[in-house]
Amino acid sequence: MNFLNIDDLTREQLEDVLTRAVDLKERTARGKTADAMAGRTLAMIFEKPSTRTRVSFETGATQLGGHAIFLGPDDIHLGHGEPVKDTARALSGYVDVIMARVYDHEDVVELGEYATVPVVNGLTDDAHPCQTLADLLTIREHFGGFEDATVAWVGDGNNVCQSFVLGAAVVGLDLVVATPEGYGVDDAILDRAAELGTAPETTTDPEAAVAGTDVVYTDVWVSMGEESERETKLAAFEGAGFQVTEELLGDRLLMHCLPAHRGEEITDAALESDGAIVWEQAENRLHAQKGLLTHLLS
Ligand code: CP
Ligand code: NVA
Repeated sequence: MNFLNIDDLTREQLEDVLTRAVDLKERTARGKTADAMAGRTLAMIFEKPSTRTRVSFETGATQLGGHAIFLGPDDIHLGHGEPVKDTARALSGYVDVIMARVYDHEDVVELGEYATVPVVNGLTDDAHPCQTLADLLTIREHFGGFEDATVAWVGDGNNVCQSFVLGAAVVGLDLVVATPEGYGVDDAILDRAAELGTAPETTTDPEAAVAGTDVVYTDVWVSMGEESERETKLAAFEGAGFQVTEELLGDRLLMHCLPAHRGEEITDAALESDGAIVWEQAENRLHAQKGLLTHLLS
């Protein structure tokens, strides 16, 4: 199976990934490795930069006894000189899993169609399901489950938010999404969330969104690939009061997928505040993805 969107996993499969993640996290804490990837190789395709995704996948493969190969934009022919479908079939002859971070979501779909090994979405312009796995693990660690937590998304309604919306619907997590006018979650994602369970409440008012919630989650205003829209987006988000400050945060927990752009979507004080659980979230990328890899290879 492929993991291109968070709802490629049923609730039961998602629970299995999280259970595996918890177990593997405990093993790592005890200094133990695992062997689920012994003799197996993960190919990691990156069209965009990455700190967390690259290092957590590569380290995860090592901790599972396997090997990972980093394939940056200048390392392979993908997209320039070789069609996606050919890369998919060639890599399938060598490796056991392909992880890809690309711009166009259709490219991971095509990789998934033509590869004969599992393909994992490491972020596209539309989705970041690996991030959602770590987010759900982090929320579960803090609240003991999903029933007692309410999350407010404050920021752009693109990739990270869209996967979180679907993940919340799969596990039944209460979510309110605040985005500026014109930067909301795609209607198709909201429809899909309703189909899976519940579509989040949506608003353009960040203060109204955070009222009564336990967690505030934000992401950058200008995503990778949107550099030409920088001025327009900064004006839209800043003008609509979307910066997460200590005042807006109050005594809530703060989540951020990172990297953070201090002075834009978040203030330094909010990010460095006691409520920030962003480093746990970042570490959980490693454990959640080990859970995912063992699930996909089992
Ligand atoms: N959150 C996340 O995916 O970070 P990177 O871009 O550093 O991989
Ligand atoms: N929305 C951000 C997430 C980075 C992990 C981006 O796409 O750049």
